Amino acid sequence: MAYEVKGVVARSKGAPVSIETIVVPDPGPGEAVVDVQACGVCHTDLHYREGGINDDFPFLLGHEAAGIVSAVGEGVTNVAVGDYVILNWRAVCGQCRACLKGEPQYCFATHNAAQKMTLTDGTELSPALGIGAFAEKTLVHSGQCTKVDPAAPPTAAGLLGCGVMAGVGAAINTGAVRRGETVAVFGCGGVGDAAIAGAKLAGASTIIAVDISDKKLEWATQMGATHTVNSKDTDAVEAVKALTGGFGVDVAIDAVGHPKVFEQAFYARDLAGRVVMVGVPTPDMEITLPAIEIFGRGGAIKSSWYGDCLPSRDFPMLIDLYLQGRFDLDAFVSETIGLEDVEAAFEKMHAGEVLRSVVVV
Ligand SMILES: NC(=O)c1ccc[n+]([C@@H]2O[C@H](COP(=O)([O-])OP(=O)(O)OC[C@H]3O[C@@H](n4cnc5c(N)ncnc54)[C@H](O)[C@@H]3O)[C@@H](O)[C@H]2O)c1
Ligand SMILES: [Zn+2]
Ligand SMILES: [Zn+2]
Repeated sequence: MAYEVKGVVARSKGAPVSIETIVVPDPGPGEAVVDVQACGVCHTDLHYREGGINDDFPFLLGHEAAGIVSAVGEGVTNVAVGDYVILNWRAVCGQCRACLKGEPQYCFATHNAAQKMTLTDGTELSPALGIGAFAEKTLVHSGQCTKVDPAAPPTAAGLLGCGVMAGVGAAINTGAVRRGETVAVFGCGGVGDAAIAGAKLAGASTIIAVDISDKKLEWATQMGATHTVNSKDTDAVEAVKALTGGFGVDVAIDAVGHPKVFEQAFYARDLAGRVVMVGVPTPDMEITLPAIEIFGRGGAIKSSWYGDCLPSRDFPMLIDLYLQGRFDLDAFVSETIGLEDVEAAFEKMHAGEVLRSVVVV
């Protein structure tokens, strides 16, 4: 028996999202239905609504969620009804060339549910990042469910499902920040602040937060930034260099996804440093850099998908740190809202008023 529940849908490019009745099928082989308890509003949801990811409208938005497994399909063994899970968008296949090389965090053939959720007229929905969790229930591949300690509330735990994991992982996995290194994070939203928190966890000695909003910089300081730069009226590259003995940082993280910001990160880095792009550019964006600068500066330019995380390894680890009081996930939650408030949350995000609005379902 299929379920009819409420969900937040982006019907067409740029149009405000609406609450629709969506049809969630019973789980088929390898699939699970999850009763969503909380789902954070990530900038990527807004990218979807604006047609910045692809044109597969209508989208069922939301992808940063925690909830309870309410039904499983045939052959599912990794989770059972009643399990408390964080949804992930990296259900590794174990068979592709990345998995076979022992690098499942790069899996090229991640699993999603095979069946489609639909509108009541049968129109197939594209779930954001294969999840679609601004909804009372959602259908996913069972591998997208990562069991964690239920002592962590869903408003906090769900954040690991995307933005916070992406940011923390950009610092500790992709950037491989080491104790005593210097780090600059450009863009201090949920993702950037998580990169700051990750750099702090890794033992970075100098963590420079760069943003165009003073409020964001204040929050970044609470997350562990040791210095702040408002790049609206300051040359960010010069400011970062001035804070690092004139050299630049060991690791520069672009958590905005704009060519200008990437360029700042590129030039604000020390020789042989690492640049990490975790912000998502739109398909029309281009970056032009002098080839001699790319060569001459050495080091690495890396992009970070989902913080190069392995959900089965990283979610329970970060939940443990949270429960031990060593990693403050609650600090990311600016407000809790209802499903009907997602459009307003996009506006607040755009206006820089929130770090994370979290939908409580
Ligand atoms: N790579 C991944 O796996 C992954 C995962 C989640 C999100 N993302 C992407 O990360 C980016 C950030 O997401 P978020 O949820 O933190 O967004 P957000 O809107 O909460 O934060 C963006 C921040 O960037 C700041 N900013 C904007 N323009 C700037 C500029 N020119 N210079 C400095 N700062 C500037 C804003 O003031 C804001 O604080 C988005 O592009 C999102 O799509 C990537
Ligand atoms: Zn794989
Ligand atoms: Zn996201």
